[in-house]
Amino acid sequence: MTASDKKPYKILFVCLGNICRSPAAQGVLQSIIDRAGRAGEFLVDSAGTYSGHQGDLPDRRMREAASCRGYALTHRARPVSSLDFLDFDLIIAMDDNNYTDLMHLAPSVESSRKVKRMAGYLTGHSISYIPDPYYMGRDGFELVLDLLENACGNLYRSLLSEEDR
Ligand code: 4NP
Repeated sequence: MTASDKKPYKILFVCLGNICRSPAAQGVLQSIIDRAGRAGEFLVDSAGTYSGHQGDLPDRRMREAASCRGYALTHRARPVSSLDFLDFDLIIAMDDNNYTDLMHLAPSVESSRKVKRMAGYLTGHSISYIPDPYYMGRDGFELVLDLLENACGNLYRSLLSEEDR
C-alpha cells in the first residue's frame, strides 16, 4: 500500500452555531495542511450543536477578520449528527458546553473517545476553552483567531507525530 492509497484522516471541529469558531478552525487547519502540500491526506470539516444557522456562511465579522489573515471561509453551517462519530477520526470541541453536548450525542463509549477539547492543543495560554465571540467586538474575533492559529499548529504537529496511526 502506498501513501496515496491511505484513507484521509478526518477531523471535525464543533462549536455552537458553526458560524464563528469552528469554521474558522477549519479554515486555519486547512490552510496549514494545504501549505504543507498534504491536502489529500486529511479531510477537515466543521459543524454546530445548534442548528439555527444551518446553510449560512460564517458570520461576516469572522469572515472579515479571517480574510485579513489570509483565510477565505466558505463553509456552510450544518448541525453535528451522531453519524459524524462513525465518519470522523477526531472531533474537536471549542468549549465545555460543546464537549458535553458531543458526549451526549456519541453513539458509543468507543466513539466518545474521539472527542477532544480544542484548548488541549493550546500552548502558552492559560485559557481552557475557545471563547464564543458572537457577542464580542472585533477584539473577540482576533483573540479567537490567535487561539485557533496556536492550537491548529500544535494539532497539526500532533497529527504528523501519529502518522503510522
Ligand atoms: P459559534 O458562535 O458557536 O462560534 O459559531 C455563535 C454563533 C451563533 C450563536 C452563538 C454563538 N447564536 O446564538 O446564534
